Amino acid sequence: MNKEQTLKLLGDYNQQYILDHYYRLNLEKKGDFLKELKGLDLALVFKLYKKFAQEKDISRPFGEIHPAPIITIPETSREKTRQQEARILGESLIRKNEVAVLIVAGGQGSRLGFEGPKGKFRISPVKQKSLFQLLAESVKALTNRYQATIPLLIMTNQENQQETQQFFAANNFFNLDRKTLYFFNQGMLPTLTAEGQLILKNDTQLLVNPDGHGGSLKALFEIAFLQHLIDHGFSELFYCQVDNPLVKIADPVFIGYHRMEGAEISTKVVRRHDPVEKVGIYGLVNGKPTIIEYSDFRPEDYKALDEKGAICHWAGNTAIHMVSLAFVKRLNQHGYALPYHRAEKEVEGRGRDGRWAQMTGWKFETFVFDSIPLARKACGVEVIREEEFAPVKNRQGKDSPDTARAAMNALHRSWLKEAGARLAPEVQVEISPLFALDREELVAKLKGQNLVVNRDRYIDL
Ligand code: UD1
Repeated sequence: MNKEQTLKLLGDYNQQYILDHYYRLNLEKKGDFLKELKGLDLALVFKLYKKFAQEKDISRPFGEIHPAPIITIPETSREKTRQQEARILGESLIRKNEVAVLIVAGGQGSRLGFEGPKGKFRISPVKQKSLFQLLAESVKALTNRYQATIPLLIMTNQENQQETQQFFAANNFFNLDRKTLYFFNQGMLPTLTAEGQLILKNDTQLLVNPDGHGGSLKALFEIAFLQHLIDHGFSELFYCQVDNPLVKIADPVFIGYHRMEGAEISTKVVRRHDPVEKVGIYGLVNGKPTIIEYSDFRPEDYKALDEKGAICHWAGNTAIHMVSLAFVKRLNQHGYALPYHRAEKEVEGRGRDGRWAQMTGWKFETFVFDSIPLARKACGVEVIREEEFAPVKNRQGKDSPDTARAAMNALHRSWLKEAGARLAPEVQVEISPLFALDREELVAKLKGQNLVVNRDRYIDL
């Protein structure tokens, strides 16, 4: 868009205040402001505003949700054999250098009350390793185990990009191969007021927000990195959020199920442990696998129990996915296919009187899981919460650093116990992915060692 078109667009969408502001600026600042305006998808947010402003009922009724087919925790010998086959297949895909890893670490993480990128948060119970370090060590351990190239893609946003990269640099990139570690930014979109007006951050910049984790699959396409991976023989992407220290990065079993099912996207789910736990629900809507966020449910439906007292909508979204690269390409081929959501948040920016003020802002975002109903085939896999899911969302209470540390300690204690170790209850345990990626590896490494820890306060391996 050239200058005239940009200014016309502002006029068409009643942004008189912004136009007046532009004309008042000196030549240099005019140039800077215009550059900012041209770099943002203004037409998209204006259209989205119009659409959402017309919707009277802001809760999104989605109709009926039914249980989706899910590969549950194997119990029968047939199911166990299939799991074993999935593992072998997944391992072969890793060895053939077909699997890349994507961690979404944009977002604004304000609930945790931590300044800076969430991945820098120190989480491990003994050595206080950061979330980034644990995730990076897992990737490193996998590349060692499978003698494979596993590109690690970290999505940041323009506000936390620099600090994230500096953190990796200051830690020698956690010994990852620099050639296979990539950082990229998600897109930003202007935040609007509830009246549909752009908000000034300063003379030459608008208030913007990250475009949601769904922006990852869009940005990968736009920066042509998707094609780069495809051209180098990669076919699958393991996707996870930065906030889960228990995530099994590039879990071969999951990769294998995804491929065996011929799925374009797969999702790990956990059984919800209480009726009010806030997660997305994996289910069937209009016959298609879909994730519906808890906030879009009617509360009585979300908490509903069946006749045996079990939670009806039990399959909680862990936000761990396998996504086929060909599918990501298709999602982008005719414009980005994912729908936008609107979030209403208190924001700060320049008010009409030029003073800094708090106001209600409308943010527009896409969600990765909205691609599930667009897939030709989607697959759901149940996993054991205690082994794979301990997200860090809140400062205290549920899903907090305390609960995540306790989960890590409990899991690693259980591994040690299985390896024959005897530990006093107060002993804190931490096992680096570089020492053992999983229970089996730990048991094999500690075989015959009869570890007994009575007095030490911690073990770190
Ligand atoms: C999310 C899921 C929920 C799931 C839960 C599991 C959504 C809307 N909900 O909830 O279904 O049960 O995780 O833990 O996703 N992010 C970006 N860029 C953005 C926005 C977010 O990178 O623009 C990243 C954040 O760094 C964060 C993750 O995405 O790691 C989750 O985002 P958030 O909006 O906080 O969703 P949750 O409430 O955690």
